[in-house]
Amino acid sequence: MNITFSPTVTEESGALALFALEGGKLGPQASHYNKASGGALEKAFKGSDFSGKAGQVVEILAPSGLGFSRIVVFGLGALKKVTALSAEDTGALIAAKLLRSGEKTVTIPFDEVEGSPIDLEVFGAHLAAGLRLRSYHFSKYLTKQPEHKKARLEEARIVSPEAGIEKRYAEMDLVIDGVFMTRDLISEPANVIYPASFVERIKTLEADGVEVEILGEKELEKIGMGALLAVGQGSARESHVAIMKWNGGKKGVAPVAFVGKGVTFDTGGISLKPGPGMEEMKWDMGGAGIVTGTMKALARRKAKVNVVGIVGLVENMPSGKAYRPGDVLTSLSGQTIEVLNTDAEGRVVLADILWYCQDRFKPKAMINLATLTGAMIVALGRGQYAGFFSNNEKVAKALDKAGQDSGDKVWRFPLTKEYDKLINCDIADMKNMGDGANAGSITAAQFLQRFTNDVPWAHIDVAGMVWTLRPGRLWDKGATGYGVRLLDRYTRDNFEN
Ligand code: BES
Ligand code: MN
Ligand code: ZN
Repeated sequence: MNITFSPTVTEESGALALFALEGGKLGPQASHYNKASGGALEKAFKGSDFSGKAGQVVEILAPSGLGFSRIVVFGLGALKKVTALSAEDTGALIAAKLLRSGEKTVTIPFDEVEGSPIDLEVFGAHLAAGLRLRSYHFSKYLTKQPEHKKARLEEARIVSPEAGIEKRYAEMDLVIDGVFMTRDLISEPANVIYPASFVERIKTLEADGVEVEILGEKELEKIGMGALLAVGQGSARESHVAIMKWNGGKKGVAPVAFVGKGVTFDTGGISLKPGPGMEEMKWDMGGAGIVTGTMKALARRKAKVNVVGIVGLVENMPSGKAYRPGDVLTSLSGQTIEVLNTDAEGRVVLADILWYCQDRFKPKAMINLATLTGAMIVALGRGQYAGFFSNNEKVAKALDKAGQDSGDKVWRFPLTKEYDKLINCDIADMKNMGDGANAGSITAAQFLQRFTNDVPWAHIDVAGMVWTLRPGRLWDKGATGYGVRLLDRYTRDNFEN
């Protein structure tokens, strides 16, 4: 989707998107086009149940007196309830409505409305963001393009007297580049994205100034990542850890760190998962995908901050070389882990990279992201909230706020001594799961906490957020790109100067 900006309408063609407020009150541009079309908008309102509520749409085909092939009026709801996020919703709705309508362009004119609670600049920029985010599609493997793909909406023309919109949007556009990288990584199948090929995608960030360091199995053995390596040992693909550094801040200032689970395919290993739905485990690298997309976003917009991103890339396979239930692993931290279930592998991978991260970088805050537990989907469902855990009130508050402000929402869960006990073990320092029935997301988080060395930390379980089976707020079905805008916002509001 190409988004352009201009102060006036230069060409009447394609679709025209207009806005009405609750009660059917027309915005200034909508009033203008209502008159120009002989009252077509008012007539359409009368003939439908459209009342300008947020999410409502009314469509007028071939309006007379105008060059546009159709007018679509979008409800914004009550004026005092219009926000940056509702503007994104509206932009997304315009895209969803017109993507496969046969229109190639949509012209979206709007002016200041008296008494509006947000600046026209903010409204316009977020509207544009919603448009671009919702228009993403992953269709590279369709060799026979369906008819509607040929006629996809290609251009949105934002028309407003407010010249600041374009500049404000330009920075958001760079962040969306990161969101799209995340969606691409997550959408790719596991025969295309595996540890070594994921590393190649990460190396493309060097073009934006990210420093990339790659550790292969030899180095990881030398360092002592016995936990991470055990998960990958059943796979024919070599495991890797990738370290991305964006040094946009002052030299010597401790970084904020993002750590991601990158299981490029999770069969469950010897504790094999059931067949139905297993294909979903191609996106078990979602945490690593979010970290990578965030590093791209921060680098693209040249954020004035030091950030490290670390991802653990492994494939969890059953084979004659695979780790087994009952195996005892020695992690980089020196703590030992009894493997009760080889399908609880994400935490085993994270154990080593969390420890490595805090030990090497002494970060101001360390946030890890992982599609860690099916239990989190049971708790929060799909496409609504990610669950998070933190050992630090300041980090927790800041994340919660970044969630509300970015629209990538998070919901906090508890960590306690009592829950921690549930992973105590008779033959090693801990086991890699609780009782298998109760508090599964929490015991997983307690496990991770044992590898944080008490640095300010949060774990975000994104199992229900990475992929959806239905279109959502700013995404079509498939990869959501959730998390990039959350971390971007968190970084911007708490660490940039
Ligand atoms: N990657 C899965 C968690 C998952 C499941 C994410 C479904 C998204 C959708 C993780 O590695 C896993 O298998 N967890 C197990 C843990 C259990 C064996 C203690 C789970 O949640 O069942
Ligand atoms: Mn698993
Ligand atoms: Zn997994």
